[in-house]
Amino acid sequence: MQPATWIFGLCVAGAAASQQRATLLELYDATGGSGWANASGWATAAADECAWHGVTCAGGRVVALDLVENGLDGLLPALGGLGALEELFLAENVGLSANLTSLKPVLAGNLTTLDLGSAEIVGGLPDDAFADAPQPRPPPAGVRVPGRRAPAERAARAVL
Ligand SMILES: *[C@@H]1O[C@H](CO)[C@@H](O)[C@H](O)[C@H]1NC(C)=O
Ligand SMILES: *[C@@H]1O[C@H](CO)[C@@H](O)[C@H](O)[C@H]1NC(C)=O
Ligand SMILES: *[C@@H]1O[C@H](CO)[C@@H](O)[C@H](O)[C@H]1NC(C)=O
Repeated sequence: MQPATWIFGLCVAGAAASQQRATLLELYDATGGSGWANASGWATAAADECAWHGVTCAGGRVVALDLVENGLDGLLPALGGLGALEELFLAENVGLSANLTSLKPVLAGNLTTLDLGSAEIVGGLPDDAFADAPQPRPPPAGVRVPGRRAPAERAARAVL
């Protein structure tokens, strides 16, 4: 192992870890953490954020947050430092709101499961939210393709 490479790797991992911790503390502050039902670890900013209530890590990176019915109240911050996040469960938090536009980076990252439950949605879906979805190519004008869905029907399907 080359010492220089190892040191570089360590620095990068350290930056990601401190960004992750800062993002969690930002979430705590923005959603009334002192009023949460269970703020174990969060309230004291305990050393290992992977042991805080509702936090699940893999290899030291936060991969899941489960803060269902925990009294979160306020606007969900962008969660930009949680690039490894795969599952986010925030249902049953009366007073929580989420801006899908500002959440775009995390939505476009590794997230596979999002449950905002009763949260108020502000902002809206980014225009290019479905940019990666396969786009059917329309037939040339005047050509009727049997069995092909009408454009309106396709659009409705993308929205749902
Ligand atoms: C609060 O969360 C911690 C960590 O998940 C857990 O060990 C503890 O039992 C919880 N406390 C209550 C009162 O549910
Ligand atoms: C997203 O997941 C991939 C595959 O597990 C991983 O290689 C990558 O580092 C993850 N992204 C972040 C920002 O952690
Ligand atoms: C949602 O977030 C975007 C991007 O950060 C911002 O421009 C917009 O004003 C926000 N909308 C609301 C309703 O907060």
